[in-house]
Amino acid sequence: MNPPILVTGGTGTLGRLVTPLLRDAGRPVRVLSRRGGRAAHGIEQVRADLSTGEGVQRAVRGVDTVLHLAGGAKGDDVLARNLVDAARQADVRHLVLVSVVGADRLPLAWMRTKLHAEEAIGGCGLPWTVLRAAQLHDLVLSMAQKLTALPVVPLPGLRLQPVDGREVAARLAELTLGTPAGLVPDIVGPQVHTTGELIRGYLRASGKRRFTLPVRLPGEAGRAYRDGANLTLHGASVGTRTWEAFLAERVTAR
Ligand SMILES: NC(=O)c1ccc[n+]([C@@H]2O[C@H](COP(=O)([O-])OP(=O)(O)OC[C@H]3O[C@@H](n4cnc5c(N)ncnc54)[C@H](OP(=O)(O)O)[C@@H]3O)[C@@H](O)[C@H]2O)c1
Repeated sequence: MNPPILVTGGTGTLGRLVTPLLRDAGRPVRVLSRRGGRAAHGIEQVRADLSTGEGVQRAVRGVDTVLHLAGGAKGDDVLARNLVDAARQADVRHLVLVSVVGADRLPLAWMRTKLHAEEAIGGCGLPWTVLRAAQLHDLVLSMAQKLTALPVVPLPGLRLQPVDGREVAARLAELTLGTPAGLVPDIVGPQVHTTGELIRGYLRASGKRRFTLPVRLPGEAGRAYRDGANLTLHGASVGTRTWEAFLAERVTAR
């Protein structure tokens, strides 16, 4: 019997896409989250909190591979360190982390926590793989929905390369089932879009009309975004599903 693969954050947006792929590849999956989720054939759910470490050792027991997806707006470095502490005491042979494109280049506090999470995994002495992904279409959609709830939509001057969550999930499944590979090429979507193009695409697809207002992001972070520090224009693995195709699937005009 194969040991289970632990997927932290397996109840989240990416986790829900990647866990069935691992299970369908013949590996039992154990999902870790704070609130727990619904167990399914071949998918076990355990509750643990990576920010305090509570329940994590139990969750890692008997596991040889960990796919670490759990994360949020802050504290991802702490989550990674607590995971690493538990993994070192178990028989873990491969730690896989999803990070964010630009984690090493963008001067933002939460990006620094992402970079520190990468360092915790890469420096822990266990074999590892790290994949940096661009923003998922799902995240851009939820940003577009929030921004267009305003009467005038602010458009920060930055560009994004949104990527389909299913393509990121497929790559993560491949890496998790493969041998440790260190830092692998980033995964990004097929097109670079300005926020204006992304929002106008959403407005068209949803049949809404809004005024838009370009805004300039201040400071060092604004400069880094304008310089494209959040983009990977060369050497990335590039998804095929476009923002327009995603909108056609997910958004219905009113
Ligand atoms: N979405 C994107 O556009 C994108 C792009 C690149 C990289 N990423 C990275 O990919 C990872 C997953 O993203 P996602 O969009 O799938 O996130 P998500 O939908 O917000 O899901 C987060 C998951 O982490 C769990 N979690 C959060 N804090 C936890 C804690 N302290 N202990 C245990 N579990 C915890 C959540 O479950 P509970 O709340 O029940 O604990 C949930 O299962 C994140 O690290 C994110 O930074 C995301």
